Amino acid sequence: MAEKSSRGLADVVAATTSISDIDGESGRLFYRGYDIHDIAGRISFEECVHLLQRGDLPTQQGLDDLEDELTAARQIGATTEALLPHVVRAATPMEALRTLVSSLSVDDPDAGDSSVEADRRKATRLVAQMPILVARYEAARTGRAPVESDPDLGIAGNFLWQITGRYPSDRAQDLFDTCLVLHADHTMNASTFTARVIAATLSDMHSAITGAMGALRGPLHGGANEAVMNTLTSIEGDVDAVDGFVREELSAGRKLMGFGHRVYKTEDPRATHLRKMSEELGELSGNSRYYEFSRRMEQTVFDTKGLYPNVDFYAASVYHALGIPTDLFTPVFAISRMSGWTAHVIEQHEDNRLIRPGSEYTGPTGRRWADIAER
Ligand SMILES: CC(C)(COP(=O)(O)OP(=O)(O)OC[C@H]1O[C@@H](n2cnc3c(N)ncnc32)[C@H](O)[C@@H]1OP(=O)(O)O)[C@@H](O)C(=O)NCCC(=O)NCCS
Repeated sequence: MAEKSSRGLADVVAATTSISDIDGESGRLFYRGYDIHDIAGRISFEECVHLLQRGDLPTQQGLDDLEDELTAARQIGATTEALLPHVVRAATPMEALRTLVSSLSVDDPDAGDSSVEADRRKATRLVAQMPILVARYEAARTGRAPVESDPDLGIAGNFLWQITGRYPSDRAQDLFDTCLVLHADHTMNASTFTARVIAATLSDMHSAITGAMGALRGPLHGGANEAVMNTLTSIEGDVDAVDGFVREELSAGRKLMGFGHRVYKTEDPRATHLRKMSEELGELSGNSRYYEFSRRMEQTVFDTKGLYPNVDFYAASVYHALGIPTDLFTPVFAISRMSGWTAHVIEQHEDNRLIRPGSEYTGPTGRRWADIAER
């Protein structure tokens, strides 16, 4: 008979990992031993991909090689290409993209091979393909011709270019690049755990990533950033209207998206950076409405409920200011988290044991079979 369960697996250590670590009490996050405050704004997303997937920050030569690999992999196969027009009618972008990501395995040159070497190649390809997929999806659903990828731009700049059709300023590229770094990995969050459970059956990289996409979609996980933006835009009037909104939501027993965290007992260190970016982008664009609304909401939620904002809260106003459509916020999260998910699949495959927890039975016992005519 199993022991008492931990609801939501809170405080259960489900795996060992050398990819990232969180100190929830002091609000610190580390990628392979580097404090996020030390590297955010200093390394590019490509360097971060190298760090997470390959274990170390790259040398200049290592970075040049990875960038070449990533740029060459900015394409989707014929199967995904053919599927694209059919999935644009899907209810949400995440539903469409989950299907498209799954289809990438069909044309992957390493399909059927889950060796560490093949996993590494697939991991790099998936990081390169994910932003292209989102941009192609956006073009298809809006009926526009796809914007050609620009090999002179990194992942962050090229994504903004393809999504908005406007060449992004250097500062916009840098800020979005930092967003991608900040969202890249976060220990045993729901989508990463999902990916590891799937990988641990010795299933393949694409299956694990497809499962992770499904988990990320939910509003309690990656879907929160979109919900935050919808909240901000739904509040009418000036910044004082925020207080009434917050009190009404909380007294109705509803959760405010973008607040609270299972692990952090203090400020989420990613929110520290995103708050500053939101402020800067508000100033640069001459429209600080959503930054100011966010600041007030943060203050009121803390005063009434003692909750801190998480990564999704200020990401909303940042993405909005960068010109990203609201319903693509969660796909943008996936673009970044692809680096962490794939690193975890590699790590799981390198030292695998099936993940199969127990359960606490709460149903009836001692029942006896009766013939169907007598039930
Ligand atoms: C992230 C989250 C799922 C963590 O959940 P958890 O560890 O299971 O914590 P719980 O949902 O059990 O919340 C614990 C308490 O705080 C409250 N709480 C937590 N987050 C809250 C929020 N965003 N708004 C209002 N109340 C919240 C709960 O109502 C609960 O209160 P109670 O004990 O009086 O019932 C939760 O904080 C949440 O739903 N946040 C909103 C969604 C979100 O932003 N997700 C992105 C996470 S990065």
